[in-house]
Amino acid sequence: MILVTGASGTIGSHVVRLLAERGVAFRAMSRHERPDGVRADFDDPESLARAVADVDAVFLVTVPPVPSADHDIALVTAAQAAGVRKIVKLSAIGSGERFDGATVGAWHLAAEEAIEASGLAWTMLRPPSFASNFLWHRPLIQAGDPIPNLTGDSRQAIVDPRDVAAAAVAALTDEAHNGRRYDLTGPDLLTFADQATILERVLQRPVKITDTSTLASLPPDMTTGINWARAGGAAYITDHLPRVLGRPAGTFEQWALDHREAFAATP
Ligand SMILES: NC(=O)c1ccc[n+]([C@@H]2O[C@H](COP(=O)([O-])OP(=O)(O)OC[C@H]3O[C@@H](n4cnc5c(N)ncnc54)[C@H](OP(=O)(O)O)[C@@H]3O)[C@@H](O)[C@H]2O)c1
Repeated sequence: MILVTGASGTIGSHVVRLLAERGVAFRAMSRHERPDGVRADFDDPESLARAVADVDAVFLVTVPPVPSADHDIALVTAAQAAGVRKIVKLSAIGSGERFDGATVGAWHLAAEEAIEASGLAWTMLRPPSFASNFLWHRPLIQAGDPIPNLTGDSRQAIVDPRDVAAAAVAALTDEAHNGRRYDLTGPDLLTFADQATILERVLQRPVKITDTSTLASLPPDMTTGINWARAGGAAYITDHLPRVLGRPAGTFEQWALDHREAFAATP
């Protein structure tokens, strides 16, 4: 039995789909009722104890409102008590790198360290920016307004969230990935402007961008990560996804082609 946290989210929803397609038993965790799952909240230890009961492996997605490892640690504590065997954590590229006197992805790093210290088997998945982040900007794109570019002219190997989910399923179902930390990069290094140009071609409508370094609304931990990426920290490609999946990683263009309709829909 696999517990999928963040099951209604970007990566978790694909993990649920892939597990269902393969006939692997899973429990989808959400703070809301759903037929294939369990209602639980990282802030409610009793609900977490119910979620991990009789679970073999956990796909761990945390999006704390304030960056901290508290949600990960709450899950690890519940998992240890329930005899869970393995945790596959969705982390982020660069976690633990030093930039401008601060630590990139400090909360992900602290969570990874808590998982490693737990004695449970683990796999860490560290993707760069998801192609799907462009869906956040649907209203601006539909209105023809510019979307904010936080990463300047820096390049990143943008990854298809479906590939991240496929890597998660591989790690959840194959012991060969235990103790591995994967940088799940896509196949091409792209600037934000490159991505907008590709999207523009696919959608056949203007996708304008505006450079911004105004990060005041973001917590400091996220600002460090963005500034690290903006300085080129994430400008590299690994062979981790092709090795885990046994096929090339998907391109940003293919993701855009497959999501043309979503950009026309109401967010
Ligand atoms: N976006 C990127 O480019 C990127 C790149 C690298 C790494 N990451 C990492 O990926 C993770 C986010 O993954 P994602 O985009 O798949 O997530 P997401 O789409 O934001 O979904 C996260 C889910 O977590 C659930 N959730 C929120 N608060 C919860 C709580 N207190 N208790 C239980 N569940 C809760 C919500 O589900 P319910 O509402 O159903 O409860 C939500 O759907 C983050 O850790 C981020 O740092 C993101």
